[in-house]
Amino acid sequence: MPNETLQRKDSHLDLVAHRDVESDGVGALFDCVHLVHEALPELADSEIQTSTTFMGKTLRYPLIVTGMTGGTDRAREVNRDLAGAAERAGVAFGVGSQRAMSERPDRADTFRVRGAAPTALVLGNIGLAQARSMGPPQLRELMEAIGADGLAIHLNAGQEMVQPEGERDFRGGEAAIAALARTFGDRLVVKETGCGISPILAKRLCDAGVRHIDVSGSGGTSWVKVESLRAKGAAAKLGEEFSNWGIPTAACLLGAASLLGGRATLIASGGIRGGLDAARALCLGADLVGIALPIFRAQQAEGADGAFHCLEEVSAGIRLAMLLTGSRTLMDLRRARRVLDEPLERWVSAISG
Ligand SMILES: Cc1cc2nc3c(=O)[nH]c(=O)nc-3n(C[C@H](O)[C@H](O)[C@H](O)COP(=O)(O)O)c2cc1C
Repeated sequence: MPNETLQRKDSHLDLVAHRDVESDGVGALFDCVHLVHEALPELADSEIQTSTTFMGKTLRYPLIVTGMTGGTDRAREVNRDLAGAAERAGVAFGVGSQRAMSERPDRADTFRVRGAAPTALVLGNIGLAQARSMGPPQLRELMEAIGADGLAIHLNAGQEMVQPEGERDFRGGEAAIAALARTFGDRLVVKETGCGISPILAKRLCDAGVRHIDVSGSGGTSWVKVESLRAKGAAAKLGEEFSNWGIPTAACLLGAASLLGGRATLIASGGIRGGLDAARALCLGADLVGIALPIFRAQQAEGADGAFHCLEEVSAGIRLAMLLTGSRTLMDLRRARRVLDEPLERWVSAISG
């Protein structure tokens, strides 16, 4: 069983590196967000302030490389390169699911990135199914064993159901999260993995004490699609049919921002593909923006430097959007004028009631 988890990790990396793994349905709906141009910005580029704080640490840009991998030798290299790039860029970094480490403690070093990222904000990661069976003390150990600042619990019912060896029982998840929120307080992030957390669920999580939510909506990497590429026969067919399943990221975010009114940190991930998408997310109410696939592919192509340059490109895009909307601060960007297309408005009104 433990070796199965490790083999699955490398097969995921292969598929995600080379195959078409993004949802091709309605997308993340960031194309429905138009930031309004300010022809007379009355700003110098040097005045623009992009820094923010998260879990007590200062980030140069409101960005996080969201959790991807760990467990195998290949994953160790990916984690070190991505964490090193995040450290250089002054942004946050998350390791992938530490399930592999809980089953094989000898693989813990593949998740340890403090050598490459001594000061960056680092998040640990585990699936809800494992979190539910482990309980808070063991989870705290997992987090502390890698020197992480916090722990992300990921929700991935869609992926599990298409994975032949995946979890089939999702009962008790909300109670487990509420217990973790009581123990971990503001060190806990609850995230999806590309199917989206609806505004109504975001509110329930917030009511249960969760302080940081990564909506991780559809429009980017689809784990249902990845699993359908691994599966055979009926499971592969089912996964293909559901490969665009999920709530578009922009809709999750806009709905949650209005329903939560600042009671939780909102992270927007899922289909963020450049600085303009990131700026649109920040305007819709995101406190932080998460990116996975493009940074991983940049690392695969050009190592740690490639990942760093990818983060620099996203940062440059955020700055440009801020200048061209006359936004000196991230708060100004949130208040910037925008035009929203109807598909996004329709989604938000349908999922927020
Ligand atoms: C190679 C890869 C591995 C991933 N593994 C995990 C994981 O172990 N835990 C997790 O919470 N999310 C995982 N994710 C999901 C991402 O953190 C993110 O939520 C999702 O991919 C959407 O972002 P994207 O469209 O920018 O890729 C993974 C994503 C990728 C690309």
